[in-house]
Amino acid sequence: SVSSAFDFAPNLFPLSSTAQGYTALGAPSNPALDPSNALNGGSLEKNKSLTYLNGLSLVIGLIIGSGIFSSPSQVNKNAGSPGAALLVWVVAGVLAWTGAASYAELGGAIPLNGGAQVYLSKIYGEWAGFLFTWCAVCVLKPGSAAIIAIIFGEYLVRAIIGADAVDASTWLNKAVAIAGLVIVTLLNCVSTKLGTRSADIFMFLKFFALLGVTVIGIVVAVTGFSYKGHASEDWKKQSWFDGTETNISNWAVALYAGLWAFDGWDNVNYVTAEFKNPARDLPRVIHTSLPLVIASYLLANISYFLVLPASLIESTNTVAVAFGSQVFGPVGSLVLALFVSGSCFGALNATTFTSGRLVYAAGKEGYLPALFGTIGLGKTHRAIRLHTLNANPSKSKLSRKFISWFADADAGFFFTPIAAMGLNAALCAVYILIGSFDTLVTFYGVAGYSFYFLAVLGLIILRVKEPTLERPYKTWITTPIIFCCVSLFLLSRAVFAEPVQTLIVVAFMAAGLVIWFAWVGRRMNKERGRFRHIDNQGSEKVGWRFWKRWRT
Ligand code: ARG
Repeated sequence: SVSSAFDFAPNLFPLSSTAQGYTALGAPSNPALDPSNALNGGSLEKNKSLTYLNGLSLVIGLIIGSGIFSSPSQVNKNAGSPGAALLVWVVAGVLAWTGAASYAELGGAIPLNGGAQVYLSKIYGEWAGFLFTWCAVCVLKPGSAAIIAIIFGEYLVRAIIGADAVDASTWLNKAVAIAGLVIVTLLNCVSTKLGTRSADIFMFLKFFALLGVTVIGIVVAVTGFSYKGHASEDWKKQSWFDGTETNISNWAVALYAGLWAFDGWDNVNYVTAEFKNPARDLPRVIHTSLPLVIASYLLANISYFLVLPASLIESTNTVAVAFGSQVFGPVGSLVLALFVSGSCFGALNATTFTSGRLVYAAGKEGYLPALFGTIGLGKTHRAIRLHTLNANPSKSKLSRKFISWFADADAGFFFTPIAAMGLNAALCAVYILIGSFDTLVTFYGVAGYSFYFLAVLGLIILRVKEPTLERPYKTWITTPIIFCCVSLFLLSRAVFAEPVQTLIVVAFMAAGLVIWFAWVGRRMNKERGRFRHIDNQGSEKVGWRFWKRWRT
């Protein structure tokens, strides 16, 4: 028989079991009484508003961020030659693709918000989901956003004030980074639509930028023209594989840098439940966005090498700006710097959108104080909206439209997980202030890939343990196997190359486990005795008695 993801551990997830109970009751006729309406403090999951295009921009918008404009030096330096560097880009891209395809299968089988949080809980037990949430909320999400924000700040300062200012004071960069973070957070607090709309716009901007780099590179290579006289002829003179690195460790470092540029492929998994048709759209999003990104990254790298000397690519942290200045002079470097900061701003937007929802889900689950699991500005805010909606049944068509737009959970102002986004922004600001790019990237790589590994390994376990589970999308079994092998290699290498960073990650995870077993998990187990039931008047009844009555 075919089982669904809800069949095992149906009560692990208050969100999903509430949603189920709600379906069982039938939809209340008055939306104001709909307990799952965000107006009434219900869940975001009921807004099935995300489309294929939104999914694309969530993934592409986050993947194309800082990496392709600043990691090439890292990759080239460690791979040793341009040809080898391209190979690293391919491997990193394919690895990201296998990971994303595996996550698409998991997302189809377990169509809930929260990404790895729910997959790990289902597969290994709730402690694993908590551990992920703990790391993601405290470090992974705000940390990676901080990296992107730092790059955003650096490039914007470079574009507006000049390269000297970037080096002169890191505080100016950091202030600009925090300003960007605040703007993005406000955008996402105001409305869901504003967040997703701006993600859509930025996606096109980025493709345009990468396409521009490619076309310009080819034109320069063919005509030989560039602002600084002749462009580099290295690509003609030098064999593409001269100097290729033989040390496996260096390849791993190059791979880490490439993986950073491809990271973010799990972004749709955090909001699976909000898709109109996740079973169809999740794999579609993955299988369009990753090939597109891989192709555009390869073209951009080839283009860098057609225009710039190999030695310059290896030594600059701002390869895109060097590219612009080589081809168009000062104007070129200004335009490219603006583009890169715009690209980072877009990535910051995409990651903030999902981080807010992850923290929100954690609040709902009881992993964090309940405050973080609320939508909007609080009870009064919701009550006012509810009142507006109910008190005006006979207003003119236009004003009704206005009111429903205003009060609509999807488009209404400030009906977003505001407290959750506030927490995320606050942590991110701390990392911007104390962190630096390098420390954050390594930490992110080690911790992030531990969880990717566990989740994808979980896919294999789930295939064995739950062979009949409904899977609207199934990858080839080789996909997760490849992903697991490569990420295991990367993780094992980190232990030797970055022992301190790895130790910090391990200590952090251990702390998470202690918190779970000593405190949060215990409390939640106690609460398992309480069952929630929402009656058809829309009020919540808590307790065993009500649960039993509802079930029979
Ligand atoms: N690929 C992005 C970049 O190049 C980084 C994505 C960070 N990942 C994340 N989940 N926030 O900037």
